Amino acid sequence: MSKKDETPKLTLSDYDEIDIGFGIDIGGSGIKGAPVHLRTGEVIGKRFRLPTPEKSTPQAVAEVLAAVVEHFNVPKTAHIGLTFPGIILHGVAASSANMDKGWIGTDIGQVVKEATGHRAYIVNDADAAGYAETRYGAAQGQDGVVIVITLGTGIGSGLINDGVLVPNVELGHLEIDGYDAETRAASSIKEREGLSYEKWAVRLQRYFSHVEFLFSPDLFVVGGGISKDHEKFLPLLKLRAPIVPAKLRNTAGIVGAAALADRYL
Ligand code: BGC
Repeated sequence: MSKKDETPKLTLSDYDEIDIGFGIDIGGSGIKGAPVHLRTGEVIGKRFRLPTPEKSTPQAVAEVLAAVVEHFNVPKTAHIGLTFPGIILHGVAASSANMDKGWIGTDIGQVVKEATGHRAYIVNDADAAGYAETRYGAAQGQDGVVIVITLGTGIGSGLINDGVLVPNVELGHLEIDGYDAETRAASSIKEREGLSYEKWAVRLQRYFSHVEFLFSPDLFVVGGGISKDHEKFLPLLKLRAPIVPAKLRNTAGIVGAAALADRYL
C-alpha cells in the first residue's frame, strides 16, 4: 500500500461524532501529525512526518504545519492540538532551547491559524506526552504523582498529580553538578559523545535520583525515541519509585495534544 492509500479519509462528522481529534508534534528533527481516536488514544492510519526545517523559524515551520494538515484533509472547523518543545504560556512560547529563538514571544496559535486556517491548542511537548501516558498509556489509573521524562534532543518533563497536569515544569534544565541536565543526559548527548548504554546510565542515574529526591513521584515513565531500547538502560537504574517505558512511544505527543485540544477548545 502506498503512503497515500493509508491516509484515512475522514470527514467533519467523523471528527464530531466519533470523537476524533488531530494532533501535530513539533520535534527537533521531525514534525509529525495524525488523526487520533480520542476514546482509545490510538492514532488512526499512519503518522505523516516531514523533517523539521534546518533553520526552524516560525515561518519555515508554519509551511510544514500547513503541509501536514493538508496531507490529511482535516476539515476546516476541526481543532488541532500542537506540541512545541518549549515553555508555553497561553499559546505563546516563552522559551525555545532546541528550536530557533524567533519562537520566543510568538503566539503559536496565531501562526497555526494563519498557516492552516485551524484553531489550535498549543502545549509543551513533554506535557502532551505526559498527559497521553496518564490518560491512555503506561501511567493509566496511577494515583499520586507521575513524572514523565522524555529523552531526545533535550530532556522534557511532564508532572501529573492524580491525573491533573502541572504544566511547564522544565525538569530537563535542572542544574546538576554545575551542568544544565539535558546537556549531560539527553539521548542526543549519548549519541554525540558515543556513550555506551552503561556509561549513559551513570548520568541517567544521577539525573533521576535528583528528580526523585526533589519530587518523590509514585511512578516514572520514560519516553522519547530511545525508550524503544528501554531494556538496555532502565534495568540499570536504581530508584525508589518504579520506572517504566512509555507505552505510546512516538505517538504520545500527537495523542496528548489532540486530547488536550478536545478538552480545552
Ligand atoms: C525544553 C522543553 C522540552 C524538552 C523536550 C527542553 O530543552 O526546554 O520545553 O519539553 O526540551 O523537547
